[in-house]
Amino acid sequence: MFYKVLGSVLFILTLSKANIGGCKPPKTYVASNDRMGFHNAFITCRQYGFEPAEIHTVEEHIMVEKLLKHEKAGLEHGFWIFATNLDDKKSYYWLNSGRRLFYSNFSKGQPDNFKDNENCVQVFHISPGHFAWNDLPCTSQIRFLCQHYQEEKNQEACEGNRVSNC
Ligand SMILES: *[C@@H]1O[C@H](CO)[C@@H](O)[C@H](O)[C@H]1NC(C)=O
Repeated sequence: MFYKVLGSVLFILTLSKANIGGCKPPKTYVASNDRMGFHNAFITCRQYGFEPAEIHTVEEHIMVEKLLKHEKAGLEHGFWIFATNLDDKKSYYWLNSGRRLFYSNFSKGQPDNFKDNENCVQVFHISPGHFAWNDLPCTSQIRFLCQHYQEEKNQEACEGNRVSNC
């Protein structure tokens, strides 16, 4: 893990990666150091050439846990992942890809839409090395995760070995 300042925003980069979805380049998550509301954070990922982070599988959830394993406990120290139910206030979807949440890892009793005001999703520390998801007011100022896909030199070899999920 290493740190890199891009413009005025500090991101923590991880070297851990997972090759999910066959021939897609490996996905990597980065964590911001700055805190912002959900929508500002979403735009900031884009401005820095990243995508707003989405977690689609348990493997990806575990990648995020590895990236964040040195982070402090507490809801206020959580990180936005970019799921929201702001459309109908019921069903959650990933704002960037538009996918429904087929996979989720909410902590027990969440999402609870506390005070009828929680429509955006964070990951937060629940026990050493473990993180779970929680709904939070979208205006909360917290850190956030972005993602990007690393192009691999062997991408051509991968293309040559297409499997059904490519
Ligand atoms: C949720 O995350 C934990 C790791 O913190 C993992 O052990 C568990 O399998 C995950 N649950 C689901 C439903 O993926």
